[in-house]
Amino acid sequence: MGDVGDMGDVGVAASRADAPTPTPPLPPSPTPEEADRMRAEVVAGLQRPQKELSPKWFYDQRGSELFEEITRLPEYYPTRSERALLTAFAPEWIAELRPASLVELGAGAADKTRILLDGIQAASPGATYVPVDISAEFLESAAEGLREDYPELEIQPLVADMAERIRLPESLPRPAVFALLGSTIGNFRPGAAVALLARTRAAMRDGDRFLLGADLDKDVDVLEAAYNDAAGITAAFNLNVLHVLNRELDADFDVAAFRHRAFYDRAKQRIEMHLVARRPVTATIPGAGTFAFAEGETVRTEISCKYDRAMIEGMFAGAGLLLEGWVDGPDHVHRFALAVGRLS
Ligand SMILES: C[S@@+](CC[C@H](N)C(=O)[O-])C[C@H]1O[C@@H](n2cnc3c(N)ncnc32)[C@H](O)[C@@H]1O
Repeated sequence: MGDVGDMGDVGVAASRADAPTPTPPLPPSPTPEEADRMRAEVVAGLQRPQKELSPKWFYDQRGSELFEEITRLPEYYPTRSERALLTAFAPEWIAELRPASLVELGAGAADKTRILLDGIQAASPGATYVPVDISAEFLESAAEGLREDYPELEIQPLVADMAERIRLPESLPRPAVFALLGSTIGNFRPGAAVALLARTRAAMRDGDRFLLGADLDKDVDVLEAAYNDAAGITAAFNLNVLHVLNRELDADFDVAAFRHRAFYDRAKQRIEMHLVARRPVTATIPGAGTFAFAEGETVRTEISCKYDRAMIEGMFAGAGLLLEGWVDGPDHVHRFALAVGRLS
């Protein structure tokens, strides 16, 4: 494996002709080192004046399944909007570009990605798909399904944290498309989002493209409904982070002592998701200490930034990417955008 900034371009195509590249076994989740890092990150977040947890901890197997349920909720327009844009835009784009590989950050179930994969399998049989995700078990089962449905493609799942440097396969066939869909970019603060784009840009070569799916600013009622569904699935997803901490860190959060809250901060142009303590409560994380939550005190568990075209163009520019293409829609109420970048 090579570093994102240092990827060779020989070897895979030749070796693939003889035998499929075996997928390395996924590491157990988490290793002791990962648990140490997770504990340190969690503690740092809980020690801030506004207690905070990274949204990446939502995604164990259950969290990934809950997110999939969210994507099917009537209130959760982003998945439907992005799917409509991909359906309208991607087939022609892929047929022209004929990518030899697709690297997708935060791939999840890779359901919408199938629109891209259909085109890639038709235009470039033998192409490589590298779904990258932090949710190891879920990623592997998604990859198994994709291998069955796309026998002409080389599926190489990669468990990694996109907030850090990712080690991609050394000989990634080119041209490559790097994709970040589902408005996952919105979970990063502007500086971290630009840093993520810049790390991705460092892995790109001339002829490669970056495809970003980003949710756009809109009516507050539409936004808030999407994160406060009537069925309570988003609430269960939000609370799941406490189950993850209890299991992975042997913590003792009383999940029933917290409730879900999500609201749009118009000034910061972002949804914030919080867990609110219903009563004074403490939680102990072995090896890290005991944390107290006053009644009504909140832990911020996710931000989801909402954009406009100028913001995306500015983030691309900050990362050394040129905005080459832009589509938004499918209607004014549920506007979402696909942005295509190339090296500037
Ligand atoms: C909002 S969901 C989007 C899933 C899918 N791309 C879609 O559009 O429906 C975010 C995805 O990114 C993954 N994820 C979240 N934080 C991550 C991180 N730091 N590194 C890698 N994957 C991450 C989650 O497991 C999840 O699959």
